Amino acid sequence: MKASVGVVPILLALLVSACSTSPPAPPAATKTTTASTSQPKSAAPVAAASAKSAPAPTARPQEAVSGFDDASNGLADDPTHEADRTKFDEFEAVADGLGPLYNAQSCRECHQSPVSGGVSQVMELRAGHTGRDGKFQSPEVPINRGAEIVKGRTLINERAICPNAAFPDTDIQERTPETETIRTFRTSLNLLGDGYIEAVADSTLIALAKKQCSGKEGICGSILYVPILESPGKTRVGRFGWKNEHASLLSFAGDAYLNEMGITNTLLPDEVTNLCNSVQEPNDRPGADGLTDIDHFARFVRATKAPSRDAQQAATPAAKRGQALFAQIGCSACHVETLTTAPTGTSINGGKFVVPEALGNRIFHPYSDFLLHDVGTGDGIVAAMPERYGRRVYDISWEDFSVDAYHSTANKLRTPPLWGVRTHSLLMHDGASLTFRNAIVRHRGEASQVTQRFEKLSKDDQEAIVEFLGSL
Ligand code: HEC
Ligand code: HEC
Repeated sequence: MKASVGVVPILLALLVSACSTSPPAPPAATKTTTASTSQPKSAAPVAAASAKSAPAPTARPQEAVSGFDDASNGLADDPTHEADRTKFDEFEAVADGLGPLYNAQSCRECHQSPVSGGVSQVMELRAGHTGRDGKFQSPEVPINRGAEIVKGRTLINERAICPNAAFPDTDIQERTPETETIRTFRTSLNLLGDGYIEAVADSTLIALAKKQCSGKEGICGSILYVPILESPGKTRVGRFGWKNEHASLLSFAGDAYLNEMGITNTLLPDEVTNLCNSVQEPNDRPGADGLTDIDHFARFVRATKAPSRDAQQAATPAAKRGQALFAQIGCSACHVETLTTAPTGTSINGGKFVVPEALGNRIFHPYSDFLLHDVGTGDGIVAAMPERYGRRVYDISWEDFSVDAYHSTANKLRTPPLWGVRTHSLLMHDGASLTFRNAIVRHRGEASQVTQRFEKLSKDDQEAIVEFLGSL
């Protein structure tokens, strides 16, 4: 954690006001682009008469705010958002707690394009093997010439802080052992607009799954209850990460700070290894404003605007035809165009977050159902509990938490939201598809019928769908 300066004293007050139900001003409509025309701009201001904690069920949903312009979606004022972004962009050093094992020095290294919080080409490596019981087993990775074995995680960190001057003989670089025969890359993900996804009620995702599973296409997304780290014992329907391993952006920030950067924090206070470790735990401590870095990261992500469409491309006849075909042949069964967030004032994340006005009752267009599906591309890897939820995960009794449910996801992946898909070129979880067409024809399993319909389309119609994807 770096000492914070300047803006800090006012941040706490701003946080409080950002989370209350009567924020100072609605997002400026002139500065933003919205992807859809379905909602008139003149929509009445939602719950203008400060709703306290009571949701306003009669309010008309408003469009989410979108745009790649670094500005806040209204959850925080712009100076606060900028200060939070500075934290997200900040490079950490060994003296701040970086490592001992890590992948990158800053959140932005992997979430940066086209603006901070977006995506990147950085991939991470995961591995494991099939155990004697036939189930996935996380890897055993020897470090320091075998003196220590790293266990309980599937991530293989690609950087290490030693050997160095202070620890010349300690060699902790992780390398994939031959025995870990299940191996995959996972691409980085876009975070812009994630606040809207977090604000979707569990019941919305559960209803989507029910509707799918009652159809005849063999498409049946599954939900997974995952721990809310800031609310021990509480779980929620997972929606973030390639395998839906988190439901809370604060939890994900804690997970990423430890596992990607090696910075221990209030949610994940234990280092992966104590070799070469010299900074006291947790590395991430509250600043003068009472907030830790992970608080700033979570508020930054919650306040980002959703990715906006390429308006020029979206207006072409081909992209418009592609959009219709996308729905017609059934891509939108999983890549659901439109969702609505829970009402302002709804308490989520085990009571640790109240949906603020900027995120409440918003219509947004993620092109995802946030459910797990087997589309024939699964990598066989199951989330390692201690890695994602901390070493003490099994000491806590989590509601609706089932290790078997996790094992059933070995070959499933969350439908990735297609908003912003034009901002990256390595597609699918492993980055192995280099064109939209290749990504589409790789879909098998639950998507088999839809893929067959795509393959039967004329070349022009197929191209129209590709043009549509390029507008998202
Ligand atoms: C080395 C690259 C890397 C770094 C550094 C990194 N991330 Fe990520 N991030 C990823 C990858 C890869 C995924 C997909 C992970 C998965 O599902 O296993 C991801 C996923 C996420 C998600 C879920 C997004 C979604 O919509 O599903 C969030 C939130 C996130 N990261 C936040 C952060 C924060 C906050 C930081 C800084 C503390 C950070 N990340 C640092 C690579 C990185
Ligand atoms: C059964 C649900 C389902 C259906 C139907 C489906 N998809 Fe997907 N889609 C997924 C899943 C799951 C993935 C992630 C697979 C992976 O990463 O291995 C995915 C990945 C993608 C990607 C890559 C996104 C990225 O960020 O890398 C594109 C593009 C895509 N789908 C387009 C389509 C199109 C076009 C159709 C219709 C022809 C379609 N999908 C039908 C579930 C579905």
